[in-house]
Amino acid sequence: MSRIVEVRELRYVWEDGTEALRGVDFDLEAGETVALLGPNGSGKTTFALHLNGLLKPTQGTIKIDGLPVIERNLSQIRRKVGLVFQDSDNQLFMPTVLEDVAFAPMTSGLSPEASAEKAMDALRLVAMDHKANKAPWHLSAGEKKRVAIAGILASDPLLLVLDEPTTYLDPPGQRSLATLLSELPQAKILITHDMPFARMLTKEAVFFQDGQIAGRGPVDQLAAHFNW
Ligand SMILES: Nc1ncnc2c1ncn2[C@@H]1O[C@H](COP(=O)(O)OP(=O)(O)OP(=O)(O)O)[C@@H](O)[C@H]1O
Ligand SMILES: [Mg+2]
Repeated sequence: MSRIVEVRELRYVWEDGTEALRGVDFDLEAGETVALLGPNGSGKTTFALHLNGLLKPTQGTIKIDGLPVIERNLSQIRRKVGLVFQDSDNQLFMPTVLEDVAFAPMTSGLSPEASAEKAMDALRLVAMDHKANKAPWHLSAGEKKRVAIAGILASDPLLLVLDEPTTYLDPPGQRSLATLLSELPQAKILITHDMPFARMLTKEAVFFQDGQIAGRGPVDQLAAHFNW
């Protein structure tokens, strides 16, 4: 098995002095899925933003598929890591839904036609193809989330990092996302407070607490241990 994520001694201090990550070690092998659990403010999103280089470690190292996450590797890294943001408004920026989802395939060198086709396929998977020509900022919260998910599906990454993907999704949407993700072969990091969703997709979890990984193991054991 090849190692998709290798994080060592990761520390991150925000500009206002908040120590969000205080020495995190984390590994993920190809094809593995892990749920990231833990209280509000424990550092999960800050951790996720390091995986494709959106934040630069204050200290420590990150490798994706053996490649150090440093400035000169960022375009390669971003093709390998598909990140769905906790807040979709930070993610969608093109004039139409279709252009937004086609953005990653376009930048990977596909023709405009092939990119649009890939984008439409991804939009169909999240049942948003009928909104392809709409402005992303006019969508409902759940629709935005679906489009953001389509955006990473269209880019075919090695690793999917989804930060609260079920927030705003209606119950059938949550179930179909779980089914969809369970059929994808890629490695996945699922940051979620939605325990039924986590249980549908993986048996393995990591528990964040105060900027550190306080435990890793079977979802049920961790949930019992941390009273989750
Ligand atoms: N832009 C920022 N500037 C300063 N501090 C921040 C910023 N973003 C987050 N923090 C702080 O960093 C810590 C970790 O926040 P983070 O968003 O990573 O938590 P989280 O585990 O994702 O929480 P949640 O479950 O609420 O999404 C918190 O103390 C938070 O207040
Ligand atoms: Mg968060």
